[in-house]
Amino acid sequence: MEYQRREGETHEAHALRLLEILQGRDPPQQKEAEEVMGEELGGYSHGRGLEDAEAILAAKSAEKQSPMVLELLKNLQQCAVYTDTPNFETNRKLWNAYAQSWATDAEWVQRMSKDVSKPSAELAFVGDEWSDAESLTEVLKEWLFPHLATTQTVAEIGSGGGRVAAQVAEKVGRLVCFDISETMLKTAQKKLQEMHGNVDFHLLQGDAPYPARFHETFDVVYSFDVFVHMDLHEMRHTLTCIQSILRPGGLLFVSFANLLAPEGWRRFARQKHYSVGGFYFVSPDIARCLLQRTGFRVLASSTPRRGNIYLCRDLLVLARKE
Ligand SMILES: C[S@@+](CC[C@H](N)C(=O)[O-])C[C@H]1O[C@@H](n2cnc3c(N)ncnc32)[C@H](O)[C@@H]1O
Repeated sequence: MEYQRREGETHEAHALRLLEILQGRDPPQQKEAEEVMGEELGGYSHGRGLEDAEAILAAKSAEKQSPMVLELLKNLQQCAVYTDTPNFETNRKLWNAYAQSWATDAEWVQRMSKDVSKPSAELAFVGDEWSDAESLTEVLKEWLFPHLATTQTVAEIGSGGGRVAAQVAEKVGRLVCFDISETMLKTAQKKLQEMHGNVDFHLLQGDAPYPARFHETFDVVYSFDVFVHMDLHEMRHTLTCIQSILRPGGLLFVSFANLLAPEGWRRFARQKHYSVGGFYFVSPDIARCLLQRTGFRVLASSTPRRGNIYLCRDLLVLARKE
């Protein structure tokens, strides 16, 4: 069977081969996407890092399961009524596995950091391998830092390993990090609590509303590089929750994967279906509709910019709670 691991094949090579088969990439379409976008990107093009990592982590977790359980699951999928796994659950599993397996000497982490021209020994936080430092700094300096003050209470939704929180904590009075992944949250907690005494952590429970004790607590809420992994319904749910924890007139900074941005289209065009690591793409009018319908007024949104991983791929939005 072409799906089974071949003799002598490493887990990573197996996972990458499975990914190729599963995505069944259509060569002419993909080539066209690369050619068109190559010109628009001015030579800049981001690697497949996270999608490959996702496949490797999936293969690794399958290895750990008992073959009997896997066989049972396969059979159940064939005979039971198909039930869709909620998006937060898929996200939770991937990010737990990601944080659990992350190490600066793990081959897949080294590969990702090479993609963004960073020596892996210099990775301080889980997620430092997702972009070059300049791209992240440029985004934070333009879109988030000008709106922060040491008098404020601020929340990060989807704080991951804490690479953004570490920079925000020193600029605000109190920071609360929310995440659905307990392993990510613990990783961030370990890193941040030794550096900053003003950071708290809260594990989000699936699709439940955010706890009432946080209602109308925050001056600013930001969620960076998180909505890119959610489906549309999860985005709507999360925006509604964010609305509930912001004070009246509070600010939201959020990023979406933008189908109309050059790198957004390029990534989308080479995929056959959505996956957490592959991103969920929206257009600026969909993002605006979601924000307006959940009680926000859009103050500013980004236009694609070459040479910055995020600005070339995402839509960044600053909005105010109505
Ligand atoms: C790519 S990481 C980004 C982490 C951090 N914002 C950064 O930029 O370094 C995405 C994070 O969002 C979290 N996440 C995914 N879906 C979420 C949801 N529905 N609510 C809250 N957090 C979520 C994941 O667990 C993960 O830690």
